[in-house]
Amino acid sequence: MDTRLLEEFETPLPVIDLDRTQRNMDRMADYTRAHGLALRPHVKTHKSPLLAAEQVRRGAVGLTCATTREVQVMTEVANDLLMMFPPIGSARLQSLLALPAETRLMIALDSVDSVDALARAAGEAGRSVRVLVEVDAGMKRVGVAPGDAATLARAVRDAGAPLEYTGIAFYPGHVRSHLREQGDQLATIDRLLDSTLASLARAGLDPPIVSGGSTPAAWRMHELTGLTEVRPGTYIFNDRITAELGACAWEDCALTVLATVISTAVAGQAVVDAGTKALGREPLAAGVDGGYGALLGDPSIMVRSMSEEHGILDLRRTGWRPRVGDRVRLVPNHACIVVHLNDTMAGVRGEKLDRLIPVVARGRALAAAP
Ligand SMILES: Cc1ncc(COP(=O)(O)O)c(C=O)c1O
Repeated sequence: MDTRLLEEFETPLPVIDLDRTQRNMDRMADYTRAHGLALRPHVKTHKSPLLAAEQVRRGAVGLTCATTREVQVMTEVANDLLMMFPPIGSARLQSLLALPAETRLMIALDSVDSVDALARAAGEAGRSVRVLVEVDAGMKRVGVAPGDAATLARAVRDAGAPLEYTGIAFYPGHVRSHLREQGDQLATIDRLLDSTLASLARAGLDPPIVSGGSTPAAWRMHELTGLTEVRPGTYIFNDRITAELGACAWEDCALTVLATVISTAVAGQAVVDAGTKALGREPLAAGVDGGYGALLGDPSIMVRSMSEEHGILDLRRTGWRPRVGDRVRLVPNHACIVVHLNDTMAGVRGEKLDRLIPVVARGRALAAAP
């Protein structure tokens, strides 16, 4: 345990409330267990092997990654890793195929070209790789149309060893309404899944794994028939967006940015040392002017605007008047962006530092090639 006080650290500083983090992990582990869903948390939120190990200890079947750096780092704590990002380009493929032999690698693909490239590279590396066919469930980012899933699944099966057809994956990232109002979108996804599973069954390609999930829709994933595993990431810390969507309570927000008031010279505002380089510039929702973060102690007080190092707290509708030098804790709109901006986070219990948490998996992998 690190006994230093938070006051000793310069701000802005990302602070992780470890008690809240543990509760968030427990809640998701309990929910998935209760509904017979496997949990494969996305590590892009914390990028920390320390926290990933805690997720595995609570029963996660494996981990989900978006970058080869994340995959490389997470081999330390889990041997079942899903690369949920198209592994396009030989540098990316080589990094993945150079993982330790005991790592069981699974990759989501959405094109015949990527199946061919992976089959070739995996063959040369002598490494077997499980493949999920990625399906677009309505987000329109990556993924084949549900009607084309069987064709791609057949291509994977026909490629044969070292590829192994293992199932399908989708990401319901377009479900960004309040938890209570997600019913119609989830019903649409359910129908898409149903028809996809039926066409796979007709082709003799029943998927052992059907992987979905996100944080905003996490608590309703049991409504999707046929789903076998979920991949929420943000839930470990939650953030202002998650609270706004009703997928967590404000008291469940475990990541804050500790900031210092550096100026109150201009009336109606207080300026803190947390701008875009500490909080990120993620809107609360598309087209919504909702600021970029809010006070942990009073969510009605928000960061109205920012420059790179300055955040402007809007005091026009509050009698609260902080003094220069005061410290505040800000809940960011999007936790994952804050994490990726930092090398180290401060894990606290109450107001006391417990341990520093290095963000080991941030950044990019260097090429595996010499
Ligand atoms: C493919 C994929 N799966 C899972 C997740 C986790 O979703 P969330 O951040 O809502 O927890 C993400 C997030 O970006 C993702 O891109």
